[in-house]
Amino acid sequence: MVGTKKNLFGIMKIIFATNNKHKVDEIRSVLPAALEIITLKEAGIDIDIPEPHDTLEDNAREKARTIYRLSKVDCFSEDTGLEVEALNGEPGVKSARYAGENRSFSANIDKLLYNLQGKENRNAHFRTVICLLLNGQEQLFEGICTGKIIEAQQGTQGFGYDPVFVPDGSDRTFAQMTMEEKNRFSHRRKATDGLVAFLNTLYLKQ
Ligand code: IMP
Repeated sequence: MVGTKKNLFGIMKIIFATNNKHKVDEIRSVLPAALEIITLKEAGIDIDIPEPHDTLEDNAREKARTIYRLSKVDCFSEDTGLEVEALNGEPGVKSARYAGENRSFSANIDKLLYNLQGKENRNAHFRTVICLLLNGQEQLFEGICTGKIIEAQQGTQGFGYDPVFVPDGSDRTFAQMTMEEKNRFSHRRKATDGLVAFLNTLYLKQ
């Protein structure tokens, strides 16, 4: 059963409105056993979810509302951006399409490193906004991970800007970490913690 109620085994299932397998793997790896996510593919939904807005919050809401309209099932979505101090918060909400509509991770990194050439301030943070759409009510959760952009790519794990981002408290990029190590620092894990704490108070511990 999918929805807000628990099944006979005490498990709550909810749709995660994304087509990004990396995000699914990361979020699944930090969820309690009592909470299962259904991917869009598993729910039989095959669409490119729109991200038309100027804020992570509005995009996260749009994604959750789009999937709810199609599925009529409670769901959550997330939108993440890399906000770089010396670039006035860019690429921010445009992180996926920074170098163009084809969403190439390597072209995005090349553009970022090019725009940061000669800049001393390499401070940046990832910010994740999760939007939960539950019983017709929307709830937002935020997670931030501060760190620095290094000058050349290091590591092969993860996705997106992971090869050039070193979180505060580490000397390695996210792409040099296992998923479990990345989870200790990550914006996505922090936002997911908020989601789980909220659901815990409502359902999981009943
Ligand atoms: P969106 O939330 O799908 O719009 O993702 C925006 C873009 O940010 C992605 O295409 C990635 O390039 C980047 N991104 C999102 N999360 C992460 C992350 O955890 N590590 C590295 N890059 C990320």
